[in-house]
Amino acid sequence: MTATHLPAAPHVAPSTAALAAIPPARIPALLQAMPKAELHLHIEGSLEPERIFALAQRNGVQLAYPSVEALRAAYAFTDLQSFLDIYYAGASVLLTEQDFHDMAWDYLLKARAEHVVHVEMFFDPQTHTARGVPFEVVVRGLKSACDRAERELGVSAALIMCFLRHLSEEDALQTLDSALPFRDLFIGVGLDSSERGHPPEKFARVFARCRELGLHLVAHAGEEGPPAYIESALDVLHVERIDHGVRCVEDPALVARLAREGVPLTVCPLSNVKLCVFASLGAHNLGSLLQAGLKVTLNSDDPAYFGGYVNQNYLETFAALGLDAAAAYTLARNSLEASFASEAHKAAWVARLNAVFAEAIAAG
Ligand code: ADE
Ligand code: ZN
Repeated sequence: MTATHLPAAPHVAPSTAALAAIPPARIPALLQAMPKAELHLHIEGSLEPERIFALAQRNGVQLAYPSVEALRAAYAFTDLQSFLDIYYAGASVLLTEQDFHDMAWDYLLKARAEHVVHVEMFFDPQTHTARGVPFEVVVRGLKSACDRAERELGVSAALIMCFLRHLSEEDALQTLDSALPFRDLFIGVGLDSSERGHPPEKFARVFARCRELGLHLVAHAGEEGPPAYIESALDVLHVERIDHGVRCVEDPALVARLAREGVPLTVCPLSNVKLCVFASLGAHNLGSLLQAGLKVTLNSDDPAYFGGYVNQNYLETFAALGLDAAAAYTLARNSLEASFASEAHKAAWVARLNAVFAEAIAAG
């Protein structure tokens, strides 16, 4: 072992030379073991077909599919909208506080097993309140699972309420009103659902109100929509992170701005392939985004629908793009730093990340 390859002290970031010396064969184990945050996860998108059928039976809800296998077989999407139609149908089995708790708990157990130390979980209240489920039922069920994860699993979990962009801003404003009595149960707001034809500007007033309330702000932009949506999410909505954002590469000036301003992107490679944003993982632009110096994070989006949870996203993307240990470290560190957790929590997680890499370096 040369001097440059000596293991770093656990609290010290690994050097470029030490990272380069980690053999490629060790990378899959490292991807799984490294502490990470998940910042782009729709909790309704973690409903596995088996759970959908169990909840349908528990609640007497009739599904359009005769079996788990038939439902799973329908997961062949051509674009975002073809997915959303099935995703909203799947969410229709959720009725009680216990249902929301159970759904989130299923996910949090998997997160713990994948060394996710912190998750900022999206939820879509309008898809539930439109069916007559009170906002309070949704948010209390999810929050009780988050609190339980903190106590029983040591996983930190917070909620981000998303507005559905295919609905009106009036509807979003009403949703915000019904959420306000529960303001302390969620940390921020986001914007999701059908992107094309629903630019961020449509939600300028509701995001301005959320900003005044001190909520964190994020928005899906540049998944299917053009780079201009990323710009207006930043300039009109004043978001702190962009969800997806992969179409930024079509505008070099925007890429330069995102790099300069250190705007985090929550990229979801398996989702992008399933929704035909990229033809294959090998064609994904994650490597170019990293090379351009963007603050990229890696996430699962809707893992029950897209073929894998966050570690599967790491494993398959690294294999397809031939990414190295330096990319693994950067992505994990970005995920922790781009979270809305306290600086003290972030520092503790980064120290753990450094310790895991120090061990891998020491193992040579
Ligand atoms: N809702 C759930 N998943 C989504 C995605 N990938 N894009 C937009 N809205 C969503
Ligand atoms: Zn998403």
